[in-house]
Amino acid sequence: MTVKIGVIGTGAIGRDHARRINEVLGGAKVVALSDVNRASSEAVKKDIAPDAAIFATGEELIASADVDAVLVTSWGATHEQYVLAAIAAGKPCFCEKPLATTAEGAKRIVDAEVAHGKRLVQVGFMRRYDAGYVALKKTVDTMIGAPIMVHAAHRNPTVPKQYVTPMAIHDTMIHEIDVLRWLLDDDYVSARVLFPRAAARSHAKLRDPQIVILETARGTIIDVEIFVNCHYGYDIQCQVVGEDGIASLPEPMAIQTRLGAKLQNDILTDWKDRFIASYDVELQDFIHAAAKGTASGPNSWDGYVAAITSDACVAAQETDGAAVAIRLPARPALYQ
Ligand SMILES: NC(=O)c1ccc[n+]([C@@H]2O[C@H](COP(=O)([O-])OP(=O)(O)OC[C@H]3O[C@@H](n4cnc5c(N)ncnc54)[C@H](O)[C@@H]3O)[C@@H](O)[C@H]2O)c1
Repeated sequence: MTVKIGVIGTGAIGRDHARRINEVLGGAKVVALSDVNRASSEAVKKDIAPDAAIFATGEELIASADVDAVLVTSWGATHEQYVLAAIAAGKPCFCEKPLATTAEGAKRIVDAEVAHGKRLVQVGFMRRYDAGYVALKKTVDTMIGAPIMVHAAHRNPTVPKQYVTPMAIHDTMIHEIDVLRWLLDDDYVSARVLFPRAAARSHAKLRDPQIVILETARGTIIDVEIFVNCHYGYDIQCQVVGEDGIASLPEPMAIQTRLGAKLQNDILTDWKDRFIASYDVELQDFIHAAAKGTASGPNSWDGYVAAITSDACVAAQETDGAAVAIRLPARPALYQ
């Protein structure tokens, strides 16, 4: 079966996912496109999906009888309306992060999916599909004993001028929030944020770097350094300290050179390159599940928990290091 997919939001990642579906992955085809900027959909049609129909609105695309499943890759604030429409239409839906820009919005999606009675939504937390994190999880689950601490870092060389302090959580650390919860199979109970002295590349609206400390229900303490103007490269680190040993996320593959009296390998600089292979794996997983009329991988509940946790972390940016509690409602049976 070929899953007929409609893409809503044909900007950077929508275009790239359309390319994956039509040129890299199997079992699906892009048959419909929609974007508030029609020229963007027309460009994707011309370059990648010549047979696709262009719809004026995302809602019309979702309602089309020719569309089996939906990709929501528009701006974050518009995700909720399209995911809700896809659930109402009973169509599998892959939604890029964030699932919704508020915890209340994510909860509305959870409620709608629970009322529908079957999983339809996959959230684009692609790190769960990264070969390095998958290997790390296997090691944590089977070799190093129960986790006690996690030391993680998310470093970007630079960020755009409009990037402000809360975005370090909502846009950057959101990936650690999801992947570390999955890695430990545990839930967060509190968040604290510490600010060292601001680095010279910070500005009035961006306190950089920051350290977020998350505590889990089992008492594991996680520290995440977020340093978005670190200058030297795009660098993701994760080390889990267990009862019996320590496991670290592998470095991305890089050629090592011995040259000019130096032993060296490159560090990536563009975030797009770091998890590039995992986007293929996550979308292939979506296609497989969509062919059966359902969804797998990161679910709406994960998107909701990520939103609640992000809100707590942002609140903790304003409490001078005091802990902010993270309280989760009971998890519906659909997501057990
Ligand atoms: N998982 C990841 O690593 C990852 C990476 C990049 C982007 N993203 C997420 O993907 C989403 C899109 O990011 P991007 O970098 O492609 O942004 P982008 O600005 O390049 O593209 C977004 C597109 O959505 C369109 N759009 C805006 N409002 C719309 C609406 N109401 N209906 C239809 N189209 C609309 C815009 O015209 C634009 O073409 C964001 O939520 C972002 O957080 C996730």
